[in-house]
Amino acid sequence: MKKQLFIDGVWVEAGQYRPLFSPYSGEQIAEVAYANAAEVELAITAADKARPRMAEMAAHERATILEKLASLIREKKEECAQLIALEAAKPISTARIEVERTIATYKFAAEEAKRIQGETIPMDAAQGGEGRIAYTIHQPLGVVAAITPFNFPMNLVAHKVGPALAAGNTIVLKPAGQTPLSSLFLAELLEQAGLPAGALNVVTGSGSVIGDILVQDRRVKGVTFTGSPEVGIAIRNKAGLKKVILELGSNSALIVDQGVDVDAMIARAVTGAFSYAGQVCISLQRIYVHEQLYDEFVRKFVEQTEKLRVGHPMESQTDVSALIGARDAERALQWIEEAEKLGAIIATGNRREGNIVHPTVLLHVAASASVSCQEVFAPIVMINKVSSMEEAIQMVNDSKYGLQAGIYTENIRTALAAAEALEVGGVMINDIPTFRVDHMPYGGVKESGNGREGVKYAIRELTEMKLICFKK
Ligand code: SIN
Repeated sequence: MKKQLFIDGVWVEAGQYRPLFSPYSGEQIAEVAYANAAEVELAITAADKARPRMAEMAAHERATILEKLASLIREKKEECAQLIALEAAKPISTARIEVERTIATYKFAAEEAKRIQGETIPMDAAQGGEGRIAYTIHQPLGVVAAITPFNFPMNLVAHKVGPALAAGNTIVLKPAGQTPLSSLFLAELLEQAGLPAGALNVVTGSGSVIGDILVQDRRVKGVTFTGSPEVGIAIRNKAGLKKVILELGSNSALIVDQGVDVDAMIARAVTGAFSYAGQVCISLQRIYVHEQLYDEFVRKFVEQTEKLRVGHPMESQTDVSALIGARDAERALQWIEEAEKLGAIIATGNRREGNIVHPTVLLHVAASASVSCQEVFAPIVMINKVSSMEEAIQMVNDSKYGLQAGIYTENIRTALAAAEALEVGGVMINDIPTFRVDHMPYGGVKESGNGREGVKYAIRELTEMKLICFKK
């Protein structure tokens, strides 16, 4: 399978190609274009040329293209799931859920394309404003650069492409190096759905080379990025006055209060910790349990964890498969070792087979251990004991990140206090932090990023508000 660049509505031969390997088996699965600077320039030029056509397109036409895209994905949903499982080693059952969510995201984008509204401003509320009528409109930014991560090769691309097109922008998409195939398939489907040439361009290759050009080109007016804080902060520093949306890392936490029915929530907590081997920004990484039920919680959590099936991503029973690369598996084991040296107890796991790391549960972890204070992005979870909810909230907030947090409690006052005090973009009461549906506002504070996704909210970020004022 040789994969070219997609520029200006056609497949373009690149000067260079690199092999793409399966993270699970190590076998070569494709040969993918490795764009040089001139090829990235071509993509930006194509997106810039397509700008007027997209900006003039009626909202109902943009909605129709997005609806058609959602239907095409539905028709090919098993093919899409297999592509995700192949390039990302995501267990096929989880990949199928991602495809369903992708369809929903594009459907939300189609709906939101028809609801991009401004407001009327009561100008006479200010002295000097009498005799004027004013309203706002939201215009597309123009060319948007979308730089996407490996962990949701279809749905996190949809969270950038869907809102950008719904708002009438054009896009240069740079998918993650390990998972370009889903984005290249999207280009095929969007062409079939009737998107004008140049409105979506896909360039694959080096993140730093392509990213630097996109972020610094004056024709690119917005950058939407999901990935690490280091790269996100570098983008922000180079982007000048461009609009920048950053969805960055997290070490998401869950609090479990006394009096909670552990049996009713334990399976969900295990899923939150180990879904896609923990390679999810809102993966459950830290759990703080009230001392009253700590022992029961740990026993049941470890029992459930040990039932998870580890194996081939294409097998429908598999719960946990390979990490995205060998370096990630090595790092995971090093961080477990470091936590143990700092006093942690390994309750289960700590075993590697190829790029698979077996689901690992650590107890009594020091706050300074990397598995606590860094983003793990691997199947490792820590469970610590707390004696009060105040202590738990303080532990959760003692983090450079702030994406989402969860709290299970039977006490409404505790729930409300936690909702107010937790320093995150979203609080899940009586659920894990690993909860997301695709229209809700999603994003973080601190080093977890800025701006919000969730189609309607991303559209706000990817448009420019203009005031129009009539003097009577
Ligand atoms: C992410 O990893 O940021 C996305 C999580 C999700 O969409 O479920």
